[in-house]
Amino acid sequence: MSAAVVISRCSDTAQFAAILALVHDAFGRLTPPSGALNETVDDVAARFTAGPVLIAEAEGELVGSLYCVLKGDGLYLTRMAVRPDRQKQGIGRALLMAAEAEARALGAQKLTLRVRVNLPENRAFFERAGFRVTGQGQDPGRPPYEAMERPLTDFAP
Ligand SMILES: CC(C)(COP(=O)(O)OP(=O)(O)OC[C@H]1O[C@@H](n2cnc3c(N)ncnc32)[C@H](O)[C@@H]1OP(=O)(O)O)[C@@H](O)C(=O)NCCC(=O)NCCS
Repeated sequence: MSAAVVISRCSDTAQFAAILALVHDAFGRLTPPSGALNETVDDVAARFTAGPVLIAEAEGELVGSLYCVLKGDGLYLTRMAVRPDRQKQGIGRALLMAAEAEARALGAQKLTLRVRVNLPENRAFFERAGFRVTGQGQDPGRPPYEAMERPLTDFAP
C-alpha cells in the first residue's frame, strides 16, 4: 500500500457525506444493485453511533471506509468500500488490519462479515485474508449471502 494512505477512526461528522459518496461509488457497480445505494447520510450517522467507522485517506482525500459494530463476541464488518481508482493497492487489507485492532480494543474475539454468493471474487479476497465461510443465509428480497469470520490473529483468551 502507498505510504501516503492513512487509516483512522472517523471522528468528524462533517465527513459523513463524503463517506456516503464513496460507498455509493464503490458499490455502484454491483448487480443486482446493492442496498447500500439506498442509504443516506442519516444511515452513515446511525453506523457511526453503532460502532467505529474506519476511513482511509490519501493526501486529504477519502479513499476507503468500513463500518464496524460489535455483535456478540465478534466485530461485524459491513459496506467495506475502496474508491474504484484506488482498489488493488492494499487499502482493503489495511482497513481489515485496523478493524482487527478495533476488535481487540472492544474485547471481541473475531471479525465477522457477509459476502454475496454471486460475488465469488469478494469471497476469494476475504479467504485470502484469512476468513472462512461459517454459514449461508438470505434476507427477504435480497441476494443470498455467505457468512464469514476470522479469529483475531493473536487472540489470547
Ligand atoms: C472489496 C474491496 C473493498 C477490496 O479493497 P482493495 O483495496 O481493492 O483490496 P486490496 O488492495 O487490499 O486487495 C485486493 C487485491 O489487490 C492486491 N494488491 C494489494 N496491493 C497491491 C499492489 N500494490 N499492487 C497490485 N495488487 C495489489 C491484493 O493482494 C489483493 O489481491 P487478492 O484479491 O488476490 O488477494 C474493493 O474491491 C471494493 O470496494 N469493492 C466494491 C465494494 C465491495 O464489494 N465491498 C465488499 C462487500 S463484501
